[in-house]
Amino acid sequence: MKMQKHLLIGLLILAVSSTSVMAVEGGNPRKGKYLFKKNCKTCHVEGAEGGNLTPLEKTMSQWERYFKKKKHNPDSWSELTEQELLDINQFLFDHAVDSDQPETCG
Ligand code: HEC
Repeated sequence: MKMQKHLLIGLLILAVSSTSVMAVEGGNPRKGKYLFKKNCKTCHVEGAEGGNLTPLEKTMSQWERYFKKKKHNPDSWSELTEQELLDINQFLFDHAVDSDQPETCG
């Protein structure tokens, strides 16, 4: 009886931790949208140096990895705090091409 309970708890922990492998959490997507327009769109529109960029550009896991690994040229992200980057990451993740609400940033 006791063994079974431990097994159940173990499975629960496993389930929770494996879903959090692919998730961006703790960001505010509404702030993120605003920050994205304000800080990223300057370079990321058609014809500008970064080219057009919307959340649809990548999948959820690609957005998560892109921010985790800080793949961007750091100079253009240097004025953003960790929290602001998390907000932007949340917005992009929430509206990624394979998300529940794929969205372009209008
Ligand atoms: C000062 C200009 C500038 C700013 C500001 C800027 N970027 Fe970029 N970004 C670039 C350039 C140039 C590239 C392409 C060349 C490269 O990868 O070095 C790029 C590439 C990218 C890519 C890779 C695109 C791909 O096809 O994989 C992503 C994603 C990206 N930027 C996201 C962002 C986000 C999010 C922000 C705002 C937090 C941002 N950028 C702000 C200039 C900028």
